[in-house]
Amino acid sequence: MSIKEKLLELERQAELGGGPDRIARQHRDKKLTARERLELLLDPGSFVELDKLVTHQCRDFGMDKQQLPGDGVVTGHGKIDGRLVFVFAQDFTVLGGSLGGAHATKITKVMDLAMKVGAPVIGLNDSGGARIQEGVVALAGYADIFTRNVLASGVIPQISAILGPCAGGAVYSPAMTDFIIMARETSYMFITGPDVIKAVTHEEVSKEDLGGAMAHASRSGVAHIAAPDEKAALASIRKLLSYLPDNNLGTPPRLMSGDPPERMDPELATLVPEQANKPYDIKDVIAHVVDRDSFFEIHADYARNIVVGFARIDGRSIGIVANQPAFLAGCLDIAASIKGARFVRTCDTFNVPIVTFVDVPGFLPGVDQEHGGIINHGAKLLFAYVEATVPKITVIVRKAYGGAYDVMGSKHVRADVNLAWPSAEVAVMGPDGAVNIIFRNELAAAPTPDAQLAEKNRLVEDYRDTFANPLRVARLGYIDAVILPEETRPRIAEALAMLEHKRQSNPPKKHGNIPL
Ligand code: HXC
Repeated sequence: MSIKEKLLELERQAELGGGPDRIARQHRDKKLTARERLELLLDPGSFVELDKLVTHQCRDFGMDKQQLPGDGVVTGHGKIDGRLVFVFAQDFTVLGGSLGGAHATKITKVMDLAMKVGAPVIGLNDSGGARIQEGVVALAGYADIFTRNVLASGVIPQISAILGPCAGGAVYSPAMTDFIIMARETSYMFITGPDVIKAVTHEEVSKEDLGGAMAHASRSGVAHIAAPDEKAALASIRKLLSYLPDNNLGTPPRLMSGDPPERMDPELATLVPEQANKPYDIKDVIAHVVDRDSFFEIHADYARNIVVGFARIDGRSIGIVANQPAFLAGCLDIAASIKGARFVRTCDTFNVPIVTFVDVPGFLPGVDQEHGGIINHGAKLLFAYVEATVPKITVIVRKAYGGAYDVMGSKHVRADVNLAWPSAEVAVMGPDGAVNIIFRNELAAAPTPDAQLAEKNRLVEDYRDTFANPLRVARLGYIDAVILPEETRPRIAEALAMLEHKRQSNPPKKHGNIPL
């Protein structure tokens, strides 16, 4: 066989991965192969493969007879919407996509290249974790990847799709990337699977309940997106990248939508009920303000009392953080604080301005919350807002009570432009609770229950006149302007343009010590 013929044969073998039977099993399990996934992810014809002929060097446990070119991972670079990205796609048909030394070196090679040129890395994970036959070489390979994940964090976007049963090291690398996207019903993440759990703790749990897409998207918060299937998961990676720059020195692409920035939206005035405790869906407000159809929610099923996601206004990418009165009255609890803090830091890392919509009754009281560490977790959100140096624009839509007022992008945590609707109420707490505390003695002294009620109503009204409007905060300069709801979009568009070249830096230090 000539070298050319040999080469063609090796390439054919590499393209077949674990062979037709295992590919058929992959398809039967509603999963695509590594190469099919890359075809859907990347712009047509843009993929340039590297290390197609690499094989492992393991000789133990009969591994010398199980060598396949490519060693169970397809790596290289390609384009998404014309922009350079680096990719690796694990091939479950080859030894369950398990990771040995050669497999790991292929991945670290693309990560190193991505860091040199400043382009995102996308990992399509479908792997049983460390390749057991390779022992410590496999563990070392994972550690080499983890180290690069950490060094690349905050420099280039790292996005992980989970597209199969991922165990052990196969979940820790994604955990250190910026986003995790899972496909429903075909992807799982766990440190140890149901069998080990049963043996150790005697708990019985299915793969789906333990580490399926919805378990991680709604309960643990490990997954940012639970896509209906693999195709949708890959499409959401393409979409996600459209809001992000290539690296921390760049800015996100500006993508004009045709929706005019000066568009006033009278419907905004009708969306928020006047009574401070009536629920409504803050996502309606967001949809009316941002460029048409540009809102892309992140962590949609986790801590639904806070909404985070990317959007555009006048074509500029923004990160939105908003309290959600439709869920738990929009209060801040442990999960919401963690979710918000993570998103604020992600935006700050990648030069995405933060737009905050505030309608928050405060932090959630409760023994569970206190013992669960709400003090530390709530502080994460506060820490993240203060630390962020990207443009920060805040709109108080209705309530802004207590510490949550400070936290949610107030002027005092270095927001640049603070606006309030006429319905805004800024106070230490709501009128009822406040009157009960500060006028306890006066109320107790009322001669009859009726007199007490009348006195309370009067005091509540008085408190409302004092605090339950945006005038006091406007007089203090804590907000820059009271605006009508319909003006919100043009005002934010103007503010984003004004802040486009904002430069702010924090004191030099190794790094802050966010309360993790
Ligand atoms: C070598 C592996 C493998 C592994 C799977 N395979 N995992 N080979 N090392 N870790 C092989 C199987 O032998 C099988 O080969 C093929 O891949 C497909 O696996 P199946 O079990 O048939 O598939 P499925 O039923 O879908 O189950 C997938 C799975 C299961 C849930 C991933 O295979 C599994 O539990 N694997 C072990 C997971 C694990 O414990 N990994 C080590 C984690 S420790 P054939 O030839 O039959 O097709 C780790 C340390 C890192 O990663 C440190 C982090 C801090």
